[in-house]
Amino acid sequence: MKVLVTGGAGYIGSHTILELLRAGHEVFACDNYCNSSPEALRRVRRLANADFGEADVDVRDASRLGKVMTEFSPDAVIHFAGLKAVAASEKVPLEYYDNNVLGTLRLLEAMDSTHCQRIVFSSSATVYGEPKYLPYDEAHPLNPANTYGRTKLVAEQVIADWCAATAGASAALLRYFNPVGAHSSGEIGEDPNGTPDNLMPFVAQVAVGRRPHLNVFGNDYDTRDGTGERDYIHVVDLARAHVAAIELISESTGCEAVNIGTGTAFSVMDMVRGFEAASSRPIPVQFVERRDGDLASYYADASKARELLGWRAELGLKEICGSTWNWQSRNPNGYA
Ligand code: NAD
Ligand code: WQD
Repeated sequence: MKVLVTGGAGYIGSHTILELLRAGHEVFACDNYCNSSPEALRRVRRLANADFGEADVDVRDASRLGKVMTEFSPDAVIHFAGLKAVAASEKVPLEYYDNNVLGTLRLLEAMDSTHCQRIVFSSSATVYGEPKYLPYDEAHPLNPANTYGRTKLVAEQVIADWCAATAGASAALLRYFNPVGAHSSGEIGEDPNGTPDNLMPFVAQVAVGRRPHLNVFGNDYDTRDGTGERDYIHVVDLARAHVAAIELISESTGCEAVNIGTGTAFSVMDMVRGFEAASSRPIPVQFVERRDGDLASYYADASKARELLGWRAELGLKEICGSTWNWQSRNPNGYA
């Protein structure tokens, strides 16, 4: 299939393009590089030993996006482009609605005008909010606790309404849990701007000497060791879930939300110990106050992904920590 990938130069987009190429799909990547580097796509080409089209396009720019869509004429779109920092979304909510919601609207309009009826959307487990029960299944009430999560939920609803109104359309709303890890080559990985918000890139920067210690946000949660628990999903498993989702939407119509997680929760200290073992470096920690808005624990019911996509996570904590360390130690300053 011909697959247009928005946000293709980003962390998850770059890993997904590699898996799409390996599965024999033709790819075109669009990105405005607001949170990524074109170097990631150069490396994907090298790893895949294959070429693909690429354009510097903001998905909200209807005329440029329309031109690319008309020329490439995709069978399906994977929509990664968006902003993802929870704390920033509280400070600049309009930027988040503009990028994540308006960007999705503009993309669907461009799809309509080029008769493309299939989309895979990057959603997030954050759409569930405070757990009523665990594991979260896809029927869990949707009540995101932050602006970022609300932009994802609105975008999901826009896609579901578009899909219902468009004969023959199909959409997969993939609700990712906590994506981590890197490609086994160490050539592509997560390269956040400035101080990382997320746990694993922060831990990796401590191991490589860029930061003195990790602040652990709370050790008094009602969890096994008192630190927060999450369902960490290896980015290569996540990338493969997109390949499975592309296959699903090519054969079906309608809109499906699907959790993409492992079904297992690890604590902050599990991740720290895993990383120490993988890197043979100590990760000094300081226990500090809980971070505002953090939940104690959540993880996926991943059964729908198994049934509908025939996909399950195959990589565990060892591969997550080993690949993150391989990426970070080979690229201490990321793509810079
Ligand atoms: P990322 O920032 O690495 O990738 C997003 C890419 O989109 C970047 O390359 C960025 O430059 C590009 N982009 C942003 N706005 C754009 C625009 N208007 N037009 C064109 N390109 C634009 O983030 P990621 O971790 O790869 O996340 C990809 C998607 O998955 C995002 O939509 C994110 O919300 C979602 N998601 C991420 C996580 C996570 O923890 N990483 C979890 C759940 C969902
Ligand atoms: C994981 C655990 C922290 C940093 C976020 C978004 C979510 C999704 C994934 C996009 C928590 C603890 C963290 C640190 C720490 N993104 N931690 N010290 O908050 O579960 O999820 O990313 O969709 O929407 O909310 O991920 O990696 O920030 O935190 O102790 O320096 O690590 O308290 O328990 P989170 P995270």
